[in-house]
Amino acid sequence: MASRRPFFIDTDTASDDAVALAIAFARDDIDIVGISVVAGNVPLDFALQNALYTREVCGRADVPVYAGADRPLVFPLGTAQHVHGNDGMGDIGLPLTGRTPDDGHGVDALIQASKDFDGALTLVTLGPLTNIALAVGRDPLFASRVQRVVVMGAAADHVGNVNPVAEFNMWVDPHAVQVVLDSGLPLEFVGWDISRRDAVIVPSEAARLRAFGTPLAEFCIDIQRIVAEFCANDTKLAGFDMPDPIAMAYAIDHEVATEVRDLHLEVECSDGPTRGMVVMDLLGFTRRAPNAKVVMHADHDRFIGHLEATIRN
Ligand code: BDR
Ligand code: CA
Repeated sequence: MASRRPFFIDTDTASDDAVALAIAFARDDIDIVGISVVAGNVPLDFALQNALYTREVCGRADVPVYAGADRPLVFPLGTAQHVHGNDGMGDIGLPLTGRTPDDGHGVDALIQASKDFDGALTLVTLGPLTNIALAVGRDPLFASRVQRVVVMGAAADHVGNVNPVAEFNMWVDPHAVQVVLDSGLPLEFVGWDISRRDAVIVPSEAARLRAFGTPLAEFCIDIQRIVAEFCANDTKLAGFDMPDPIAMAYAIDHEVATEVRDLHLEVECSDGPTRGMVVMDLLGFTRRAPNAKVVMHADHDRFIGHLEATIRN
């Protein structure tokens, strides 16, 4: 077998992050060299417990989980507990206390991983970009050592899920987005437009997936309880969507994307009605060189295949 690809994952672990982690944990061709946790969906301590619990459910105590930033660079933390539940995992009564993260800070671990796997590391970000911006600020060579950064964030159709035009991860810490966009990191965005078009799990599909009957199948579906309500009432989807899992599936398997474009992106950092909007120059008006790849379309069935492969065992 070819050597395993080194991945580092940054996450504000809540219900869809947990499924994304499960997808990565299930792959024997991926070497998850570390997980850093950031405040976002829930406060840092909750997100840490959720990541540690998910690691346990997946039987992967070998993967280190580190605490990262507990707040955005400038703005106060705004969470999404109305989306994912107070505990971030659907408030279904999981025992989400008492686990201890590994020693060290997530930003230090990320920088160290970029040195240990110089030129080979894939970084997958599933939350606000605070930890990544801190790594860029702390180590001027960090960006040059990372092979690939897959970011769950923004929206190529400029339709938001936290205000009319911003996606949550970008909205929480737009100043971090600015640092990351300016860093030279090799960015690949999977936006919320992809999630709400190509990664919606309708109730019949959710029932079919849960009927696999494994503990992991039940875990992955049951923790979406509050998200499903939010999607029905607020984002008006036909089921619950899975932003972080489809980003992870794409990070593992390029073919999940059916169209990718090179675009110039910039972010709105002011605290007004467009806070966190990532403006994608789809028609080339700015005449500025692309600073990111953006997934424009994805393959729902291929994504579901990754989900099934994960929950089967
Ligand atoms: C993103 O925001 C969070 O609520 C999800 O975990 C995902 O990372 C979707 O906008
Ligand atoms: Ca997330």
